[in-house]
Amino acid sequence: MIKIKEKTKAKEMSEEQEKLKERLSHIRHTIMVMSGKGGVGKSTVAANLAAALARQGYAVGVLDGDMHGPNIPLIMGVEGRPLMGDEEGNMLPVEVYKNLSLVSVGNLLQNRDQPVVWRGPVKHTMMRHFLANVKWGELDFLVVDLPPGTGDEPLSIAQLISQAQAGITPYALVVTTPQDVALLDSRKSVEFARTLNLKLLGIIENMSSFSCPHCGHAIDLFKQGGGERAATELGVPFLGAIPIDPNVVRDTDNGKPFMLYAMGCAAGMSFQRIVEKIMKMF
Ligand SMILES: Nc1ncnc2c1ncn2[C@@H]1O[C@H](COP(=O)(O)OP(=O)(O)OP(=O)(O)O)[C@@H](O)[C@H]1O
Ligand SMILES: [Mg+2]
Repeated sequence: MIKIKEKTKAKEMSEEQEKLKERLSHIRHTIMVMSGKGGVGKSTVAANLAAALARQGYAVGVLDGDMHGPNIPLIMGVEGRPLMGDEEGNMLPVEVYKNLSLVSVGNLLQNRDQPVVWRGPVKHTMMRHFLANVKWGELDFLVVDLPPGTGDEPLSIAQLISQAQAGITPYALVVTTPQDVALLDSRKSVEFARTLNLKLLGIIENMSSFSCPHCGHAIDLFKQGGGERAATELGVPFLGAIPIDPNVVRDTDNGKPFMLYAMGCAAGMSFQRIVEKIMKMF
């Protein structure tokens, strides 16, 4: 009896693995946005990178890998839109814009205040489920927003993708602020990415400086230049700096990624240069 159960489980596992392989064969590149530190702008960068790529005509999916703090639905303006399924049992991503869709645990929750209380293995199963069962269609890019740190989520996602795509490892993008305490954690992310053999696109310094709207004087709230110094020391590309821009706060709260709706703002112009640098790497 136990042997039959084990055989059935093994069969189910190998079917799921085949499904995962098949699904990932329709995704050309995966970019994991990570940082050792919380609140440095990972979700902002992930959402706006996806928006910028979609605006250029690429087919883009966003996978919200932050299961305890799923912010992507709010940032992309689709909070409260439930994830739907089709008759064949596939999960359908929520459409944000033409060529741009997303999947987040946030779109599974009954209300925005509901906490997700899952341990590591449940989160791994959920991520595998998302990767194997979401019907994205053909994607040029899958952008993954990660929670802070080097724990379960980045590990699960990187391993699931690398195993299913037979050694094709995802790309990693590290976000930091210039402050020493953020840099210390972000350097860990670089080492983490190296340990997992992820392809490092580079480091982005966010919240780099703030220009006074009255006199234009630049104030370095979190210091400046640390991201570039860390990139040089660690031997990874420095992709650029994004200033602190009140437009980002407003657009984020309104669910309108600035790379779709307000590219001309200070953050948008810096971000555009970063996107151009990234695109040269593909
Ligand atoms: N360049 C910027 N200018 C102004 N505000 C910004 C900028 N980048 C991010 N923010 C704001 O900072 C806050 C944190 O950003 P975000 O949620 O993207 O960080 P995070 O690294 O994903 O956080 P967490 O670790 O909690 O997932 C948000 O309120 C966001 O709107
Ligand atoms: Mg986040």
